[in-house]
Amino acid sequence: MNIFKDFTNPPLILAPMAGMADNAFRILCKNHGADIVYSEMISAKAVYYNDAKTFQLASFDSKETPLILQIFGSEPEILAYAAKKLFSLSHPCGIDINMGCPVHKIVSNGEGCALMKNPALVYEIVSRVREVLPPDIPVSVKIRKGIDSRTENFVQVALSAQKGGADFIALHGRTREQMYSGKADYDAIKQLKDTLKIKVIGNGDVVCTESYDNLVKTGCDGVMIGRGSFGNPFIFENIKRHRQNLPPLTPSVQEIKETIFNHIELALKYKSETVALRETRKHISCYLKGFHGSASLRNLVNRAETKKELYEIINSVKD
Ligand SMILES: Cc1cc2nc3c(=O)[nH]c(=O)nc-3n(C[C@H](O)[C@H](O)[C@H](O)COP(=O)(O)O)c2cc1C
Repeated sequence: MNIFKDFTNPPLILAPMAGMADNAFRILCKNHGADIVYSEMISAKAVYYNDAKTFQLASFDSKETPLILQIFGSEPEILAYAAKKLFSLSHPCGIDINMGCPVHKIVSNGEGCALMKNPALVYEIVSRVREVLPPDIPVSVKIRKGIDSRTENFVQVALSAQKGGADFIALHGRTREQMYSGKADYDAIKQLKDTLKIKVIGNGDVVCTESYDNLVKTGCDGVMIGRGSFGNPFIFENIKRHRQNLPPLTPSVQEIKETIFNHIELALKYKSETVALRETRKHISCYLKGFHGSASLRNLVNRAETKKELYEIINSVKD
């Protein structure tokens, strides 16, 4: 399956984001123009041990397709097992392997970005996962520039993944050491695009049409957007309007309120009221940024315990 074939421009891709890009947000972003979405990262070990919550995290709706399931781990056999199991359960449009997560808990287990220290293991992981999936199902990896500024080995790691049979690579143009600080390095994305035979998705700091244009100049085959979508799922349709030389949509307060309600209702379809409210709060805070009295509104939102209370708070927002 060539998930890029339907797109004349680089597809707009919602980044994998643990704790944020769940079913509700993925559907919302698709409704606002995202072409492809990634799941939150899923522990291959938890799949191996049949953890029910993990299968829940990996489940998705037909409205979310094309969706790529992202797995993380360090052992080729466990990752291959998880990829095969998840594929046979839900038939995602691709399986991605997380090689960029900078979080200490993950890296100290040899997972996420720690894999970049070992290009031979990257090769082994990708080739094992490739072997267990049908040939038309893409296998991809998501990497960073390297562990730190002294070890920016993204080209070597990406070449290992390509040799192992990866169909495409997403590069977040920062090192693990940088976490989310500094600026994403688009020259690195261009360098990778110029080096690899397979497709390259560019990622990092796309928050508006200008940053989109800058990333597209690298020649990347897809544009992945993460934090720029928080409180602003409109970013996808605005980039599409920009491509057509149309003016951006500037949603009114009422339209933002409707988007928040839509987001909450979607979350309630997939999660219990308590969980849905807790997990939607972070998003609601982002929608409310820049609103008059947003700090106190956010405090109220964080304390709301029922949908009714939350709706009352949002409804109290003045135009
Ligand atoms: C809250 C949060 C959760 C994230 N979770 C994941 C994840 O599960 N897997 C992954 O590969 N990257 C994850 N990332 C990294 C993003 O996919 C992306 O690479 C990063 O945010 C840079 O893109 P941006 O500047 O457009 O946000 C996460 C980022 C954030 C902010």
